Amino acid sequence: MSKLECQLGKLLLKNPVTVASGTFGSGKEFKDFYDLSLLGGIMVKGTTPEKRVGNKPQRLVETSGGVINSIGLANGGIDDFIFNILPEAKTYGTEIIVNISGGCIEEYGIMAHKLDLEGVGAVEVNISCPNVKEGGITFGTDPEMAYDVTKIVKANTSKPVIMKLSPNVTNIAIMAKAVESGGADIISMINTLIGMSIDVEKRKPIINNVIGGYSGPPIKPVALRMVYEVYKAVNIPIIGMGGIMNTTDALEFLMAGASAISVGTGNFVDPYIPINIIKGLEEYVEKNGLLSYKEIIGAVHR
Ligand SMILES: Cc1cc2nc3c(=O)[nH]c(=O)nc-3n(C[C@H](O)[C@H](O)[C@H](O)COP(=O)(O)O)c2cc1C
Repeated sequence: MSKLECQLGKLLLKNPVTVASGTFGSGKEFKDFYDLSLLGGIMVKGTTPEKRVGNKPQRLVETSGGVINSIGLANGGIDDFIFNILPEAKTYGTEIIVNISGGCIEEYGIMAHKLDLEGVGAVEVNISCPNVKEGGITFGTDPEMAYDVTKIVKANTSKPVIMKLSPNVTNIAIMAKAVESGGADIISMINTLIGMSIDVEKRKPIINNVIGGYSGPPIKPVALRMVYEVYKAVNIPIIGMGGIMNTTDALEFLMAGASAISVGTGNFVDPYIPINIIKGLEEYVEKNGLLSYKEIIGAVHR
C-alpha cells in the first residue's frame, strides 16, 4: 500500500492531492502538462442544471495578493457535462469529482440524480450560490438550507457526497455540523472569500459584477483556521484548500486536520504545483519515517 493512499470515507484516492473546482477545467486543459493519473482527483469546473454564459467581463483580476473572480458559473449545463465532457474525463485514471450548483434545493437533487453514473467518483456540492427561490440567500450561510441541500443530494445519489463550505459565515463549525447531520460523507473547504478591487483612474470597480470571490495565498491563514475549527467539530474527513502553493502549505492543512488537499489558484501560476506537492509529501513521509501520511492529519499541537 502506498504511504500516500487516502481513504475519505468510501472515496479512495491514490494520494491526498486534488485540484480545486473552477481552476482546472475538466482536466483536458491541463493534460498536456503532465499525466493526470498522477493526481488524487480532479474537482471539475462547476456545473449547473442549464447552460450558463456567465457574467460579463471583466471576470478576473489579480490583486496585490491573490485574485478576485466573478465568472458566474459559465458552463454548458449538466447534460453537456454528462454527454460531452465526462466520457473523456473518466479515461484520465484519476477520480472525477463533479462540482454542482443549484438555484433552489430541488435542482441539487435533480443534478445529483443525473450524476449517479459510472465514472463519477463523488459529487462536490457548491453551496456558495444564492437560493433564488428564497430571496437570494446563499445556501452555505444558513445552516438549515445547507442541511436541506445535503439531505436532498444524499437521497439522490449512491456516490460519496462532499459538501463544500463557504467561509463567509461567522461560525464555520455550525455549518460543518449542519452538513454532517444532513449525511455529508466529506467536507471540502474553503470556497472563496468575497473581495473588491477599484480602478482609481476610472473610479470604477474592476470586476464588472463589482464584487467577486477572493482566492490565492492571502486566504490561507483564514482557511487553515477554519479547517482547524471544523476538524474539532465533526467526525467526517475534510479536503482543505485556500491558497495552497507548495508542500509546506499542504502539510499545514493536513496538520490542521485536513485528510486531503486541493490546489486552486496555484494552478494558474504554475500547473506543476500539485505534482510538486505529491513529490514533496512522499519526501516528507520518508524523511520522518512515517508509515503513512495519515500520521500527520490533525497532528498540530500547542
Ligand atoms: C476562477 C475560479 C473559479 C472557481 N469556480 C468554482 C466553481 O465553479 N465551484 C466551486 O465550488 N468553487 C469554485 N472556485 C473556488 C475554488 O475551487 C477554491 O475553493 C478557492 O479558490 C480557494 O482555493 P485557492 O485559494 O487555492 O484558489 C473557483 C475559484 C476560482 C479562482
